[in-house]
Amino acid sequence: MNAPALMPLTARRDGPLRGRLRAPGDKSISHRALILGAMTVGESLVHGLLEGEDVLRTAAAMRALGARLERREDGVWCIRGVGIGGFRQPAAPLDFGNSGTGCRLALGAVAGCPVTASFDGDASLRKRPMRRVLDPLERMGARIVAGAQDGRLPLTLQGARDPLPVTYESPVASAQLKSAVLLAGLAAPGETTVIENEATRDHTERLLKHFGAKITVKPFGERGRRIVLKGQPELEPASITVPADPSSAAFPLVAALIVPGSDIILEAVMTNPLRTGLITTLRDMGAQIDIVDKRGDGGEEVADLRVRAGPLKGVEVPAARAPSMIDEYPILAVAAAFAEGTTRMQGLQELRVKESDRLAATADMLRANGVDVAIEGDDLLVHGKGRAPGGAEVATRMDHRIAMAALVMGLAAENPVRIDDGAFIATSFPGFVDLMHSLGADVA
Ligand code: S3P
Repeated sequence: MNAPALMPLTARRDGPLRGRLRAPGDKSISHRALILGAMTVGESLVHGLLEGEDVLRTAAAMRALGARLERREDGVWCIRGVGIGGFRQPAAPLDFGNSGTGCRLALGAVAGCPVTASFDGDASLRKRPMRRVLDPLERMGARIVAGAQDGRLPLTLQGARDPLPVTYESPVASAQLKSAVLLAGLAAPGETTVIENEATRDHTERLLKHFGAKITVKPFGERGRRIVLKGQPELEPASITVPADPSSAAFPLVAALIVPGSDIILEAVMTNPLRTGLITTLRDMGAQIDIVDKRGDGGEEVADLRVRAGPLKGVEVPAARAPSMIDEYPILAVAAAFAEGTTRMQGLQELRVKESDRLAATADMLRANGVDVAIEGDDLLVHGKGRAPGGAEVATRMDHRIAMAALVMGLAAENPVRIDDGAFIATSFPGFVDLMHSLGADVA
């Protein structure tokens, strides 16, 4: 098979950005809605699902495991699930493409079922660590029967016939890891407990509650949580509305801050406090972001954001804030280049194991475009000068967020910024280029 053609794109400085935009549905919630729907007997409806490639891979995996998923003509997804422990043995390996979230959550869901399934992904996903998830799943009774060399894909997992509940203290701040244990714990008798020392996004906990599971969440230590799930619940079919993804809205948001004269509205962005670290940080930098019309929507808070361009200043971003903005560092680093002064982003070790080594990729993207940047240990330092020369081609390394961050930089840099391949943008933000056009951006 021929390798797919590369899709280079170039972003250029032009007039101010104006208008309203609704970012696509939240990626984290979309994966979880499909998986929990597939584990529920009866029909669940999902409104506003992110139809990005990552989530479509999860949909395909849930079908291969026996659930029925259909997209209705009105865009609503209808899921008929098979119940906890009800997955059937898939006929072929489950291919998660570029998606760490889909893969790790599905590993958890399968670990509690008496089936054997193979998991694989693209070249980027094959480099990412799976051991962190496999360790607790093995403790719960699942077995690796093939692969998992160096703790990576491809691998074959045999789910537990009689899964054991565990108390698991997570060694890394990872919502994927927490969620994998909780999804496996659904099939175990008794209580499965996850202790996290740093609170991470809590969409699994909220959705489990929404589907009728008994789950309690209590503070743990200074910044952590203790989550207790009662196993073998009768999940009830649910209707879910997926709010706009703050991690996708982040790109037009920063574009509007750094393109002079811009004034835009981002509609219905999820403002779950475990996802709003970027907004906090940008406001510290002096950004004009008004939160308008805060409201509830399907168990999550959403709000419209009015964003206006203006001067930014460098700040310190504490490591403790990382879990609430873990996917936003590439675009924050772009904002920091256009700020005056140094921004130090602390404690970014987890960025090294994302779709690319995002710490290196972010630094290289900025450096190639004339920005003064350094990595010190796990910290990223950007010495902002209120401007960026631009003019380079950025290697996107199969990483959608590096691709979008580089294009946003090009909208405000002195010279155009080109990326080698925009194809991966569709994993999380299908329609990105068209939506940016609708604001007046020059990306082609
Ligand atoms: C996600 C958790 C984060 C994040 C990813 C989505 C999730 O990963 O980077 O894009 O939906 O749980 P980690 O759990 O590895 O930090």
